Amino acid sequence: MNIMRHSTTAMVALLIATTATAQKTPAYLDPSADIETRVEDALKRMTTEEKVRIIHAQSKFSSAGVPRLGIPDFWTDDGPHGVRPDVLWDEWEQAGQTNDSCVAFPALSCLAATYNVELAHLYGVSLAEEALYRGKDMILGPGVNICRTPLGGRNFEYMGEDPWLTSRMAVEYIKGLQSKGVSACVKHFCLNNDEENRFTVNVKVSDRALREIYLPAFEAAVKEGGAWGIMGAYNLYQDQHLCHNKRTLMDILKGEWGFDGVVVSDWGGTHSTDEAVKNGLDMEFGSWTNGLTHGASNAYDNYYLANPYLAGLRKGRYSTAELDDKARRVLRLFFRTSMRTDRGHGSMCSEAHYAAARQIAAEGIVLLQNKRNALPIDPRMTGKVLVVGENAIKMMTVGGGSSSLKVQHEISPLDGMIAALGREKVDFARGYVGDTTGNYNGVTTGQDLSDRRSPAELIAEAVSKAEDADAVVIFGGLNKSDYQDCEGHDRQTYSLPYGQDELVSALAKAHKRVIFVCISGNPVAMPWANDVEAIVEGWYLGSETGNALADVLTGAVNPSGKLPFTWPVKLEDVGAHALGTYPGTRREGSDIVDEEYEDGIYVGYRWADKHGIKPLFAFGHGLSYTTFKLSGARRTDDGAGGKATFSVTVTNTGKTEGAEVVKLFIRKADDGMDHPLRELKDFKKVRLAPGESKTVELSYEGGVSAWSIE
Ligand code: BGC
Repeated sequence: MNIMRHSTTAMVALLIATTATAQKTPAYLDPSADIETRVEDALKRMTTEEKVRIIHAQSKFSSAGVPRLGIPDFWTDDGPHGVRPDVLWDEWEQAGQTNDSCVAFPALSCLAATYNVELAHLYGVSLAEEALYRGKDMILGPGVNICRTPLGGRNFEYMGEDPWLTSRMAVEYIKGLQSKGVSACVKHFCLNNDEENRFTVNVKVSDRALREIYLPAFEAAVKEGGAWGIMGAYNLYQDQHLCHNKRTLMDILKGEWGFDGVVVSDWGGTHSTDEAVKNGLDMEFGSWTNGLTHGASNAYDNYYLANPYLAGLRKGRYSTAELDDKARRVLRLFFRTSMRTDRGHGSMCSEAHYAAARQIAAEGIVLLQNKRNALPIDPRMTGKVLVVGENAIKMMTVGGGSSSLKVQHEISPLDGMIAALGREKVDFARGYVGDTTGNYNGVTTGQDLSDRRSPAELIAEAVSKAEDADAVVIFGGLNKSDYQDCEGHDRQTYSLPYGQDELVSALAKAHKRVIFVCISGNPVAMPWANDVEAIVEGWYLGSETGNALADVLTGAVNPSGKLPFTWPVKLEDVGAHALGTYPGTRREGSDIVDEEYEDGIYVGYRWADKHGIKPLFAFGHGLSYTTFKLSGARRTDDGAGGKATFSVTVTNTGKTEGAEVVKLFIRKADDGMDHPLRELKDFKKVRLAPGESKTVELSYEGGVSAWSIE
């Protein structure tokens, strides 16, 4: 009895204590409470001013939290290939930190070329760890815009021309990133497919092309990847800027797809308070400070979603419904990221991150041509390899626009070849001089690439050194300077710059074993393709560039990358150029440039197939040092149930272990509409020992009138 009374008293005491504790810890601070409860609790404690403060920037890359409630500032950063070095609070100049040198992962075009979704996940996880260590809550990426023209200045940041491939890679990148409590910000939503006139282009596109080509990767990012953030694009659609576009943001993204995350403006992509309030923009960043500084102590107060919004709210021009919706979304983002207590502190420049960067890079490199087995170069050979070209020595992590990085190290192709073969077996000739500058936004490479010799002298030197070499490996291609693979502009021509065609042709005449490695994010014209033995697409590979390239060139890694885009012979083989609709037409008396996507759904290989155009290298093409055979391809479903399933056996018929990508292309069932001859709808990467076979299953949710497994 006594014991009973005692324990009842204890229970009552415990109850009181628990209630008291519960009262002390507000729900929004309780990590075990569900996010929506926390959001509602925080929201009801906030003043209108506090709500407005969290929906716009307070510095170049951060927005305010709610200090009174213990909610910290929110930090974004580029993206998408590594964590960008810090700039000053309100300036683009470098902050001059000494702890922000990162690992640069390969550009997303390379990631796509791996056709390996597990690597996309690893990419996201590794990047998130670097972001956490640097105190960043959101990475401004991945970029998932479709490459519509090989001139596209930002194609290197995107994942090719195919909506399915881009979707699969984006979903895993996002899942990996967000599994660590770092938000993705999928960009640039949407129709930001070229850079020329990027602020003023008004894209005109059919609904069908919008749905089938340009939106699927964003939709998958939201619905399957569960992205917490999405960035509006600079350009216009239906005459309205995409950072506050009613149709894309309100009707499609938030309406149809049920997106519960935040819409972030591109930096300087906001143009109107009215539209930003009503058309779904949730966080405004980077608005120009020009003209906004009139006597105000903080220009950020004058952002469209700052004081002008507050004034409108006070005057009753705007209701609190939109504000609450924006604040809810931003709070949800906080509870998913910056307010988490279980994220850990991340890690930077770890061995694991370098290993991930090297693996992704090596798996993405594409062996495009390999006549007479010019590759691999046997490291046990007794002769010499002549390495030629500016891209063998030029750092590529600096430049290209907002994706530019400050790296702890970047192994050049030349150093990678020396490490793999030994210094005595590698000679170097400059071959051509491209762009010798090496700085972006205050980060400098510190390289002196100046060389005053004429093109003729440089070619003569390379040709003469080639005489003593067993093989000549040219590292050429593009770089990240303006009008190359760089944000802000597109390339002006499909040809290789800096007289490289002359160099390659001269070397091909002088030597039997010439290997051209193209460092780029885009295809380029190769009028000499037949004259060289081997061609390799080497992308922008980040910190481990030289090691990964040497791995593949010397056979330490058997190449398994496949092109994520079509490599046309000439520009006129591309729909946007054949139809002459790129880059659009300036509207009379206005800055607006109308660009009509007359190619519709026929982008990339869909166009080439339709018009029977043979590309130099097809979408999905990529060789290996071994050979594979596909056999027994068959459809395995009974035709009922709407899902088509297929199976095929892949056999490694060569002598080297290797990986092959098996791709399912379908032609959609006849419904009276014109359908592309082939559309990629599934793929799997399989690794096989010599002689080994594996059976692979592939599927497509929908009706099929024809199919092929390639
Ligand atoms: C780019 C974005 C980038 C942002 C912040 C913009 O100019 O278009 O991709 O994330 O700047 O640097």
